[in-house]
Amino acid sequence: MTTFVIAVDGPAASGKGTIATRLGAAFGLPVLDTGLLYRGVGVLAERAGADLDDPERVGAVATTLTADLLDDAALRTRAAGELASRVAVHPQVRAALLDFQRSFAARPGGAVLDGRDIGTVICPDAPAKLYVTATPEVRAERRWKQLAGQGESVAYEDVLADIRRRDARDGGREAAPMTQAPDANLLDTTEMTIEQAADAARRIVEAARARW
Ligand code: DC
Repeated sequence: MTTFVIAVDGPAASGKGTIATRLGAAFGLPVLDTGLLYRGVGVLAERAGADLDDPERVGAVATTLTADLLDDAALRTRAAGELASRVAVHPQVRAALLDFQRSFAARPGGAVLDGRDIGTVICPDAPAKLYVTATPEVRAERRWKQLAGQGESVAYEDVLADIRRRDARDGGREAAPMTQAPDANLLDTTEMTIEQAADAARRIVEAARARW
């Protein structure tokens, strides 16, 4: 039997990160934000002066990622999100990050992982899967407020353009594209507050756990 893994996938700024954190607290499980791994690779590759379109080079950088980098505030910036989405297209990068994610998911008590391909590729047997989404406009507004809160001043239109570009790249790539797993529960948070979204997510996971 597999462990109780909660897979939370969805596009940028859908609310999946907050939902994953709340689920972790509610069910007493550790949480892995897998986007941070790709952000870490993107930032390391840029610092190394690597050509981001060179799969072998960026794949080699990915094998050097260490957990201490994941706390770096530079990973939370808008620029790091873009770097992450670019390096994430390479199968070599995804392969280098696979074992770490699968080991995290195999923790005896279970785990919450949030990302783009958790329910489809990393943990296809996860007993609880959520695909969290919202309209690009609402996601751009949330991300814009978050960036402003971090002191990063940027125009709403630019954030919306980022979101659309990332949706297209993350969903259109060949390697593990962002998509809803057939057995995932769709949670559209467009009209929800974060409290409502977190509550809805908790109910979905409670139902999944009762069936497990
Ligand atoms: O969730 P995030 O915004 O931190 O993710 C940054 C980028 O990393 C995202 O645009 C695509 C990539 N990513 C991925 O390809 N697979 C994941 N499981 C998580 C993130």
